[in-house]
Amino acid sequence: MKYIFQNKKHNLVSLIFMNEKERILELRELLHRHNHNYYVLNAPTISDMEFDMLMRELQDLEEKNPDTFDANSPTQRVGSDITKEFKQVQHKYPMLSLGNTYSKEEVADFYNRVKRALNDDFELCCELKFDGTSISLTYSQGALVQAVTRGDGEKGDDVTANVRTIRSIPLRLSSRDCPSEFEIRGEILMPWSVFDTLNNERKENGEPLFANPRNAASGTLKLQDSTQVAKRSLDAYLYFLLGDELPAEGHYENLMAAAQWGFKISENTCKCKTLEQVFAFIDRMDVKRKTLPFATDGIVIKVNSLRQQKHLGYTAKSPRWAIAYKFQAETAVTRLNSVSYHVGRTGVVTPVANLEPVQLSGTVVKRASLHNSDIIEKFNLHIGDMVRVEKGGEIIPKITGVEPTDGQEQREKILFVSHCPKCGTMLVREPGEAAYYCPNDSGCAPQQKARIEHFVSRDAMNIDSMGPETIEMLYSLGLVKDVADLYTLDPADMIFLPRMGTKSAENMVLGIAASKNVPFERVLFALGIRYVGETVAKRLATAFKNIDSLMSATIQQMMDVEEIGERIATSVHRFFSQEKNILLIQRLRAAGLTFELSSEVLGERTEKLKGKSIVISGVFEKHSRDEYKAMIEKHGGKNVGSVSKATSFILAGENMGPSKMEKAQKLGVPLVNEDEFLAMLERE
Ligand code: IVH
Repeated sequence: MKYIFQNKKHNLVSLIFMNEKERILELRELLHRHNHNYYVLNAPTISDMEFDMLMRELQDLEEKNPDTFDANSPTQRVGSDITKEFKQVQHKYPMLSLGNTYSKEEVADFYNRVKRALNDDFELCCELKFDGTSISLTYSQGALVQAVTRGDGEKGDDVTANVRTIRSIPLRLSSRDCPSEFEIRGEILMPWSVFDTLNNERKENGEPLFANPRNAASGTLKLQDSTQVAKRSLDAYLYFLLGDELPAEGHYENLMAAAQWGFKISENTCKCKTLEQVFAFIDRMDVKRKTLPFATDGIVIKVNSLRQQKHLGYTAKSPRWAIAYKFQAETAVTRLNSVSYHVGRTGVVTPVANLEPVQLSGTVVKRASLHNSDIIEKFNLHIGDMVRVEKGGEIIPKITGVEPTDGQEQREKILFVSHCPKCGTMLVREPGEAAYYCPNDSGCAPQQKARIEHFVSRDAMNIDSMGPETIEMLYSLGLVKDVADLYTLDPADMIFLPRMGTKSAENMVLGIAASKNVPFERVLFALGIRYVGETVAKRLATAFKNIDSLMSATIQQMMDVEEIGERIATSVHRFFSQEKNILLIQRLRAAGLTFELSSEVLGERTEKLKGKSIVISGVFEKHSRDEYKAMIEKHGGKNVGSVSKATSFILAGENMGPSKMEKAQKLGVPLVNEDEFLAMLERE
């Protein structure tokens, strides 16, 4: 089959005869180039219609020639609706975080520290600190092969299929000059405009809103269906190149090369020599960021030379060659219209200020958290007060002060409610605690619903087919009143629910059944006992091994477990002393949930490190710090944070912190490297 195509104006292809496969390759290259012009350079050279026509032509040809399939074809940017669990991938280079500062003095300290340590001339590269979700992209032979989230810094989720839909991320590089293998890291962002539209849609559909573009971007990246990701128009800036054959010795120069290869590198990136130049960049960006189409929360300052970076090295968590300067949170002043009360999963009642809508850091703020009754007292809040609202690093804006206004005393003073706004029960306050809570845990609807939401959440039982809307529906129809009811749900009842097809009902039942294999520590976390987060649940499960021993443990026995204090122990004890909770456990047990550590975990436990107090320091090659931590615990040892006389030894990796090293030498604490440590565990 021969093809004739002509478009002289854009010099696409003029009167060339070619077969379909050649045309496919050519169209792919052409569309990659136009994508780059549009999404990276912001300078399209063809109209949207022309672009769509080329795309349609490619789609048709690919359909006719299925053997030409390429996951990096521009047609694949629309995603696929195949549902997948994300594969966990070990990062080749750990994804570390940056030391933070909020003051220019600390930036100066950083500058002087670097100067002293290098004792030589140096340059700095200043960049925006993008407020999105970080990603590591691997390219091989010029093609994107893998995209992995930060995860815990050691391992992340493989979200390649979703990342392929982001049009500013090149699937194939146009240049032949790039190294054959490299990684590039950056931030995936949701522009403000997309964020606003998305939240408006979610509001209309009664879905929970995303608190900020960062959460929206990371939530989107974790969607199971990449066609949905494609619809959300994410964007990405890259800021860090890694590999054995980088083009330059300077970080800035590498970024500029990456821009040539097709990556989106911010134009707000600049090289500085002096501290004054760095400060000038900070001041410029603090103004400019307010007009940018996406969120930023500071600037990042990096030593430019890779050789000097290497010389400066890393602490356990972050590089010594870089620092993040965070912008001061933006504040706004607005009128306090009323206060409403939110009842959380554990019954804690949180006051929420309803405000006259005000523009703050790119979004309209209508509500702010007041945290607890003490804040209302502290600010002596009255309806109609002009309050200062701040959006810090955290999602929910908070009230940070009141502007003095006339006539405050004549206006209604805000008094914290004495009874639960949802069920009318008298609120109680524990001695020494700021929060009031509703003790009616088995009859107060928002608490019950939130407990079910927590139970099914990803880190708990991971029944991901069940969102808040479904829970609301099941709860209000009386089909699910507590978490044990989930396991007796009849699919026949569910298909009659609004917006629930046979497929969704089946998925839900499958998800519920699969949750029976969730390990004991997560079941314990899922129960939602006050103060029992993931870490505490893990510690308790490891120490008591099954629910029966935990249920019969005394407060003191629980407090004997590392990091379990009186507050937690009392709460767990109280939970298991209530008849209704014992009944709940019985029903869950009857349903087949896991209430003991698996035999594999139990079998692996030894007492080889019994009585040993071990500090972990430095960077390791064979396992992550968390893995070493788990090994220590599994073999009966105790992982502690700081070196003291009582420390048995330091499990020491590369670049161990100098202060720890000094202390170890002074106290005569031995250092054990990872090979020696692993050998220690191997020994019988
Ligand atoms: S460099 C080893 N550059 O900030 C340091 N990070 O706390 C690698 N971030 O997880 C990071 N903008 O998600 C770097 N221009 C920038 C950045 C940036 C945003 C994020 C990134 C990282 C976090 C560090």
